[in-house]
Amino acid sequence: MTDHPRRESVPVSLGKRSYDIAIGEGLLKEAGKIIRPLLKRPYAAIVTDENVAKAHLAALEVSLAAEGIASTAIVLPPGEGTKSYKYLAELCDGLLAAGVERRDRVIAFGGGVIGDLAGFASAILRRGVDFIQIPTSLLAQVDSSVGGKTGINSAHGKNLIGAFHQPLAVIADASLLDTLPPRELAAGYAEVAKYGLLGDASFFAWLETAAPQIMRGDSQARIHAIRRSCEMKANIVAEDETETGVRALLNLGHTFGHALEAATGYSQRLLHGEGVAIGMVQAFRFSERQGLCREGTAERVAKHLSEAGLPVHASQIPGALPPPEKLVDIMRQDKKAVSGTLTFILAHGIGDAFIARDVDAGAVTQFLKEDMKQR
Ligand code: GLY
Repeated sequence: MTDHPRRESVPVSLGKRSYDIAIGEGLLKEAGKIIRPLLKRPYAAIVTDENVAKAHLAALEVSLAAEGIASTAIVLPPGEGTKSYKYLAELCDGLLAAGVERRDRVIAFGGGVIGDLAGFASAILRRGVDFIQIPTSLLAQVDSSVGGKTGINSAHGKNLIGAFHQPLAVIADASLLDTLPPRELAAGYAEVAKYGLLGDASFFAWLETAAPQIMRGDSQARIHAIRRSCEMKANIVAEDETETGVRALLNLGHTFGHALEAATGYSQRLLHGEGVAIGMVQAFRFSERQGLCREGTAERVAKHLSEAGLPVHASQIPGALPPPEKLVDIMRQDKKAVSGTLTFILAHGIGDAFIARDVDAGAVTQFLKEDMKQR
């Protein structure tokens, strides 16, 4: 930890729905101060999970109480299984039972699961209440809490039921990352590296030297990584809020990765960020095979992600995987698929990703056959 950690603010410019992402060390203590001006009455409903509640709920409640804000907390089980119809119903009824009115604000206090679920519940409760994101995982701080994507999973796939609902504010306290299990921290780091890979080669080069500091908990390095990631995401979201174009770049590694996640049942066998790490390396390898990008690029990507503690090849996933044909079938069901054609984010180089529509499924299957055989 350094003596003078920086505090940063990144604007997300969306007209009337614009908001700021506050990034800093120890910000949870100031949550009440940041939130107070956003409330219509001094009351907020907190949605969190059991792990976050144990580690940090009291601190949030104290910070709110210090500003005269009363709160109720709804504590849900941790894990991807909570992003379901069952818990959506439980949460909505819980918020109504707690007396949440249309003018009230919900605080989503947790990782990606809580942010997506509480955001979606807010979008539909009384036809829409406003909410505030206080992300507690690296993945949520750099990705899922920003940009307004909310939702739950269906038996048909991940995030298939949802809404765009922008938060009123995002408060990213980097010191909350200190209590994250190392595997989860690494999984979130995949999304940080993604921003360098998709659009900022110099950020990726910086990450190649700074990753050990980020993983160790150096405050300045973490805040810089979160700030640059949020800034890139905010710019993309401001340009294309509902993903009709450029926002798809944020899915680098996700089509390959989601298929692996689905094939492993969204379980502890493969965390989302781990699937994205393997998927990004596959996207670069596929780009190389297609002659789109210089040979050796995928190796550089794999080396960096691997040093950050991430899996970079499907063979590192424990247990058996379905054959490539089945993985490509899963990709066809992705919600981003259009009329069954495959869209991938491919790259001309590090920091130079592009949207490739109408990718030939046969070429992907052939690539996966070779790629998954190796090693
Ligand atoms: N996580 C991708 C997006 O927000 O568009």
